[in-house]
Formats: sequence, C-alpha cells, structure tokens
Amino acid sequence: MTIPSNETLSALAAEYGTPLWIYDAAAIRRRIAQLSAFDVIRYAQKACSNIHILQEMRKAGVRVDAVSLGEIDRAMRAGFSAGNASGAAQIVFTADVFDRPTLERVIADKVEVNIGSIDMLHQLGERSPGHRVWLRINPGFGHGHSKKTNTGGETSKHGIWFEQLQEAVALTRQYSLKLVGLHMHIGSGVDYGHLERVCGAMIEFCRALDVDIEAISAGGGLSVPYREGEEEIDPAHYFSLWDKARREIEAHFGHSIRLEIEPGRFLTADSGVLLAEVRAVKMMGRNRFVLVDAGFSDLARPAMYGSYHHISVIPGTTPRDAGGAIFPTVVAGPLCESGDVFTQTDNGTVETRDLPEAHVGDYLVFHGTGAYGATMSSNYNSRLYAPEVLIDGETHRLIRRRQTLDELFTLEAI
Ligand code: LLP
Repeated sequence: MTIPSNETLSALAAEYGTPLWIYDAAAIRRRIAQLSAFDVIRYAQKACSNIHILQEMRKAGVRVDAVSLGEIDRAMRAGFSAGNASGAAQIVFTADVFDRPTLERVIADKVEVNIGSIDMLHQLGERSPGHRVWLRINPGFGHGHSKKTNTGGETSKHGIWFEQLQEAVALTRQYSLKLVGLHMHIGSGVDYGHLERVCGAMIEFCRALDVDIEAISAGGGLSVPYREGEEEIDPAHYFSLWDKARREIEAHFGHSIRLEIEPGRFLTADSGVLLAEVRAVKMMGRNRFVLVDAGFSDLARPAMYGSYHHISVIPGTTPRDAGGAIFPTVVAGPLCESGDVFTQTDNGTVETRDLPEAHVGDYLVFHGTGAYGATMSSNYNSRLYAPEVLIDGETHRLIRRRQTLDELFTLEAI
C-alpha cells in the first residue's frame, strides 16, 4: 500500500478522532487488477464489508460472497442483485448451516447457495426445487496462517466431507437442484504446496461427477505480507496452477468451465490502517507499555491469532531526542482485560516490539488492517464502533461514522 502520509493521517485523526479506520481505494483496485486473469473474482466480504467498499468492488466488476443474512442484505444494498437464472451469480451465499431467517431470504430472493452440509441440501431441496447450488467440498486436508483459520480436514466443521460427494450429488438430483459447480476453500494463508494439492483434489472430484457443471471455485486464502521482507504471493503463478486444473476439468466435461476465485484478505488487507492515539506510557518493571485508545474490540487479530501488524509512530508535539532512540515496547489497548495487547504471540505471550519513542498525543498506525479489522470489531467493554474513511486519490470521505452512546443502548431500550 502507498500509506497515506503522516500529515494526511494526522489531519484525518484531527477531523474524525481516533480510533479511526482508513482505507485507500487505489490500493484495492491494484489488488483487483492482479487477479484479472480469473473469470470471476468473488470478494469474500467478511474481510471488510462496508457498503461503500462493496460498491467499489461492484464498480470494478468484482462479484461477492455472503456468509450471513446480514451479508446478503449488505450486498443487495450495495447494488448486487440475486436471482440469476444462468451464468455467474452476483451474490453467492456460502455456509455450513441455514439459520431459519436466512433460509427464508435465500428462497425468496433465489440467492445462489454454496452448500456446506448434507442437511442444507435437504432443507433447501424440500422447499426450492430448481435452486442453483454449489457444493463446497472438504477435501480431507487444510492449511491456515493459524490453526483457527484452517478450514479443511477432520477437525474442521466446513464443507461436505469428500467421501460424501456422491451422496450430495444424488440429493441435488433427487431435489432437482441445479448444480452450478464445486468449491473448495481449505483455509486462509494457503501456501503453494497445499495449493497444488487442492488443484489435484478438484480435478479428481470433478472427474468422479456423473453430472455436468459450469464452474469451479478456487476459494480464497491468498496471503499478503504482514512483516517486512515476507514474500508476496505471485498471482500469475496462482492463476496458472488453477488454470491448468481447469483445463483438465474442461477436457473431462468437453466444454469450457468458469474459474472463480474468492479472496477477502488479498483485496483489502494492505489497503487499510487503524489509527490510534497514545493515551498513556508507563513502565511495568522492565517493560515499557504504550497504551492507545484502540483495543481488541477494534482490532481483534493480535489477541485472537497472535497476528503481527506492523506499527509505526507519528510523533506529536512532545519534544524528543533527534537521535531517534528505539525502545523495546509493549503496545496495548484500553480494555479491562490483560490480553488487550497488540504485541503478543499466538499462545498469548506478551512481547516487546522495537519502536521509536512514543508519547501521549502521538499516533500509532497499525498497518495491514484493511481485512478482518473493522469487521471483527465488537462493543466489548461498551466501547463504540470506530469510524471508517475511504481515501480516493486527492479526496476522502467518511464511509461509516462513529457509533454514538445512544446507539449503544438502542437495543436495550425495550
Ligand atoms: N471463502 C471462504 C469460504 C472463507 O471461509 C473465507 C474466509 C474466504 C473465502 C476468504 O479468505 P481470505 O482470502 O480472506 O483468506 N479472521 C481471520 C480470517 C478468517 C477467514 C474466514 N474465512 C483473520 O483475521 O485472519
């Protein structure tokens, strides 16, 4: 990402307050362009589902994945439509269960469904013959940047177990469901070794089908570098592996097969930063703590997965040594919970990070937080949802305002 300058970030903080999410539309467009070889880019909106971001995606020709009634509704409010009779759907609902209100909506609006369990097939089939469905297959293995983001294998709840593929296909036939294609997503942060295995599994499963399909989906999981020096994935290589698989599948069916990809993180992670203000600096024995006004109620990834986000300091007005001294620093938030620390490992061990001297009134920038940042926020400790700003070239606009205290209590005012 071309990170907005410190002056721009400080000006936005002065205008909207902190904590504040800031995204760059140009960075998102650059990521989209890198995947343009795929027939369909289907954005996994769970990464960053602000309606304005979804609109940017739609304008760029990207389609969308939805995993809940709320995400279906978001997609439709952003201008995506449901109910196509053929071709690539604008919205696909991917899940392992139907809650009752979602099932009603999916049927009413004819939302294409990526089915993750045999029970979903029965529930949809009994009510909505002719419905367009994908089968999400768990190939028996998976991989993720953390064990919490591995979505394949026997310990994962996701998808239809590969040995039940024939049973699932038979049910689509029994209920006259229209099988659009097969889908696999084995986790977030997939490496090339696993990628080749998934491609191989997709070929094998397609060859075992005794019905025709029109498409395959590579799922998401493309990683982005979070640490300096971490390797970028090569989108051309990623495409070439899937394209090779697609060709073998086309040879089996004797016609062209649409190749979809379903990234979340890859499209938005490095488009976004979280900006927070330093509110206290204190020594706990040998450890220097810098406490900011954002917590894991804003950015959950470090506390949840031990995820690393690069942190930079925007100096405020407090004078400091020109020498640029570096301090081993623990960066933490305001929550009344000891795990509210941004510098920790995935087993919860608090770590220090070498950072420039930081004082109350400085801003800290949490980089690479455009995916699974704002969308994973909560109201824990009765803290308010932070606003979101979208920069586009020389202009910017507020795409979500800060939640108010009154709004915090709306649901309880019965
Ligand atoms: N497709 C399906 C069916 C998925 O379950 C997911 C992510 C994606 C696509 C997009 O995956 P991506 O391209 O973003 O890796 N909160 C975690 C990530 C959880 C991902 C859940 N599913 C994190 O912050 O790393």
